[in-house]
Amino acid sequence: MKKQVGIEALAIAVPRRYVDIEDLARARGVDPAKYTAGLGAKEMAVADPGEDSVSLAATAAARLIQRNGVDTSRVGMLVVGTETGVDHAKPVASHVQGLLKLPKTMRTYDTQHACYGGTAGLMAAVEWIASGAGAGRSAIVVCSDIARYGLNTAGEPTQGGGAVALLVSEQPDLLSLDIGLNGVCSMDVYDFWRPLGRREAVVDGHYSISCYLDALSGAYRGWRERALEHEVVRWGDSLPGEQLARILYHVPFCKMARKAHTQLRLCDLEDAPNAAASTPAAREEAAKSTASYDAQVASSLGLNARIGNVYTASLYLALAGLMNGEGAALAGKRIGLLSYGSGCAAEFYSGVVGEKAAQRMAQADVEAVLAKRERVTVEEYERIMRLASDAPEQLTPAPGEFRLSEIRDFRRIYAAG
Ligand code: CAA
Repeated sequence: MKKQVGIEALAIAVPRRYVDIEDLARARGVDPAKYTAGLGAKEMAVADPGEDSVSLAATAAARLIQRNGVDTSRVGMLVVGTETGVDHAKPVASHVQGLLKLPKTMRTYDTQHACYGGTAGLMAAVEWIASGAGAGRSAIVVCSDIARYGLNTAGEPTQGGGAVALLVSEQPDLLSLDIGLNGVCSMDVYDFWRPLGRREAVVDGHYSISCYLDALSGAYRGWRERALEHEVVRWGDSLPGEQLARILYHVPFCKMARKAHTQLRLCDLEDAPNAAASTPAAREEAAKSTASYDAQVASSLGLNARIGNVYTASLYLALAGLMNGEGAALAGKRIGLLSYGSGCAAEFYSGVVGEKAAQRMAQADVEAVLAKRERVTVEEYERIMRLASDAPEQLTPAPGEFRLSEIRDFRRIYAAG
């Protein structure tokens, strides 16, 4: 029997504070509908300097291990996907290993390619296991980031932060990946970047959207070519993309998922064997189908709308949101996932939802994680944004959580709750 490999369980961590997106809009003199309807946001996570990519990754990984009873002696790989790491040499993964007192017998490293870094780590783990190199061991992949554009910028309402930890194994209770079907597309572009030493990203916002859509088209068409070959989907009464029960996208802001879905449908409508019969205008109109978006995409965006962009983790927050709401109903069904990282790289892949998805999501208890957060005013958010990154507030971490407490002699010291 072909080996099944994929995601066995997940856990999330988010900053302790958030701002309501309508409060932010009013403070900026912007019609709140621009942020809610125009971008699809509701709330935005606000990370203080004590909540960096290490502390959030460690908190998410600790939850994953503890709530799922993971035997860490059977974990052979710990990968952190991040684009907001804390050191040019020492990986976030080694901090996590130390904070969680994980065994020395594992590979530890970070993967970076903007928001695609987490997927790069996931695929390294999946292929390591599938090849047999892992000798039956599991991997932990953590996607952790703080998205920062700065006060009064166009990107400001699309900030956020958090981490998603994934347990990857031969027991894919959440999602069994279709190994060998992945489609990829990468290009050398300057759409979003963060020069060394800067906390805030630099972004050519509208161009970044078109890069995302171009890369999506290439990645999706690559996946579709192989999925057609393997008869996972077919040209018929419905389009190949419509044969996926749900499609998850990288979500820098929720409205982007709608744009992405329109683009994916356009790829199918343009390439359909009978495409010549319809006009470009008719295809564009059909691509925008609200019914298709509502059926295949909308239900995955609940967590993203309440947390904001989490760069590497955004796609996996969408997975958490989908599984949390529909894990039981989707058992046995195939879904598609599109990862995008600026710079840029996109990967489209698919997998089949596991029978125990709902049970696994109950362990993650994502609603409880969000319910513990505190809403802050825009003034408080601005105060936190102005804090120096090397001078964290002295707050006691909650039980099971981690915080950066100080930097001494260039070494980062973390407190455990
Ligand atoms: N009521 C309802 N909707 C309104 C509105 C109102 N009063 N006013 C404006 N809108 C709508 C606009 O029509 C627009 O919708 P469409 O895109 O569907 O046309 C939407 O609100 C946004 O308006 P603008 O385009 O005018 O907004 P903007 O120029 O101020 O900024 C942005 C938008 C470019 C996305 C900006 O937030 C940004 O730069 N964000 C960061 C970059 C980003 O997220 N890029 C995504 C692709 S790159 C990627 O995915 C990697 C990553 O994670 C960063």
